Amino acid sequence: MPKITFVDHAGTARTVEGVAGSTVMEAAIRNNVPGVDAECGGACACATCHVYVDGEWAAIVGPAQDMEQDMLDFASDVRATSRLCCQIRITPELDGLTVTTPARQG
Ligand code: FES
Repeated sequence: MPKITFVDHAGTARTVEGVAGSTVMEAAIRNNVPGVDAECGGACACATCHVYVDGEWAAIVGPAQDMEQDMLDFASDVRATSRLCCQIRITPELDGLTVTTPARQG
């Protein structure tokens, strides 16, 4: 199963098993990863699953689509590699993906 690493704002890394076909947000919630709130449950309606995709992975993961981009307006400290991780579908190619969670959600 693809491994996903979440690094919190303090630099602590947690690597979890992702399930292909599910989302990076679901991997975080299933494994109690702190820093991902996901209040809307993955409907792209809350922006509390905001993460920064690590530089080398940004091109592989790709950019946010229009609806996600609109929702990112509600996140704080948005950067070029910001994504809502409920919108990142896990594929075998994402094995090793690293994302960083922001200091706060919302
Ligand atoms: S979980 Fe709400 S936007 Fe991702």
